Amino acid sequence: MPLLEIRDLRKRYGAVEALKGLSLDVERGEFFGLLGPNGAGKSTTINILLGLILPDSGSIRVFDQDFAIQQVAIRRRMNVAAAFTSLTGVLTVRENLKVYGRIYGVRNLERKIDELLERFEITELAQRKLQYLSSGQHTRVTLCKGLINDPALLLLDECTLGLDPDIAEKTRRTLQEFQREQQTTILFTSHNMHEVEELCGRIAFLSKGEILRIDTAARIKSLIPHHVLEVRFGPGIDLSPFRHLDGTPQAELGGDSTLRFVLDDPERQLDSLLRRLTRAGGHIADIQITRPTLEDVFIKVARGEI
Ligand SMILES: Nc1ncnc2c1ncn2[C@@H]1O[C@H](COP(=O)(O)OP(=O)(O)OP(=O)(O)O)[C@@H](O)[C@H]1O
Ligand SMILES: [Mg+2]
Repeated sequence: MPLLEIRDLRKRYGAVEALKGLSLDVERGEFFGLLGPNGAGKSTTINILLGLILPDSGSIRVFDQDFAIQQVAIRRRMNVAAAFTSLTGVLTVRENLKVYGRIYGVRNLERKIDELLERFEITELAQRKLQYLSSGQHTRVTLCKGLINDPALLLLDECTLGLDPDIAEKTRRTLQEFQREQQTTILFTSHNMHEVEELCGRIAFLSKGEILRIDTAARIKSLIPHHVLEVRFGPGIDLSPFRHLDGTPQAELGGDSTLRFVLDDPERQLDSLLRRLTRAGGHIADIQITRPTLEDVFIKVARGEI
């Protein structure tokens, strides 16, 4: 049975239908991505799961318990780290984490805090007040807060916002370690496609309060089937004869002795195209294939083109 089961969740704010009957299953131990344009309903979903807002209708089961009835017990085994989590500015990092640790009744709290600070490489910030932290440091304290109670279900809403590339990479690794070691189930939102692709096994694409598709990143990318093939020829060759060879897709002329082909079935077309080009006398100096990225799909979904 899924660890998290959301059925037909609806939420309206006046004229805005933030969620239009969202249904979703997340299995135990999954690193699950919630992707979608601004205003798609990701934070609304997460805030409902946190008990911060009430849905208009629909049901949620977590740990095979009814969220509407067992919310207090369920929430003890959950936690959240969100970019906009407000920790207390006048308290130090350690004091903030102590407050949350006590709320969750964490045993050996000092040791737990030390361990988390070390994992996120912010031990030296323990005595610093939150208001003096840089945004990337604040983000890492937020993640420590999210993991303070070893949650079985962790909600991460844009939790990596503002991290520099080095720290972002380390943070992703630390989250993966936690997830593997403790079988933490993670519901993750981010606008960083690279990160979503690296971390999430499955992704739900959300748009205007509805799920358009749930699948792996690889299968979601296959929504855009075509690859772009750029072929660079030796210098000084007239490329025009190669642009319209029989049985090959038409090419556009690029700069630097390059032709650009769009292949809608690359597996079938690539081999024969390259053969035809060489047979027709083209000396190929270099080729480059550009595959669609998750970002390409995201942009098309956001613009309603898929
Ligand atoms: N308290 C509120 N009152 C009115 N409208 C709201 C409220 N909270 C959210 N909304 C609206 O509900 C819709 C969904 O918002 P939500 O914050 O869930 O989007 P999101 O997917 O998290 O977007 P983002 O990527 O920008 O964080 C938006 O149109 C938003 O303006
Ligand atoms: Mg949001």
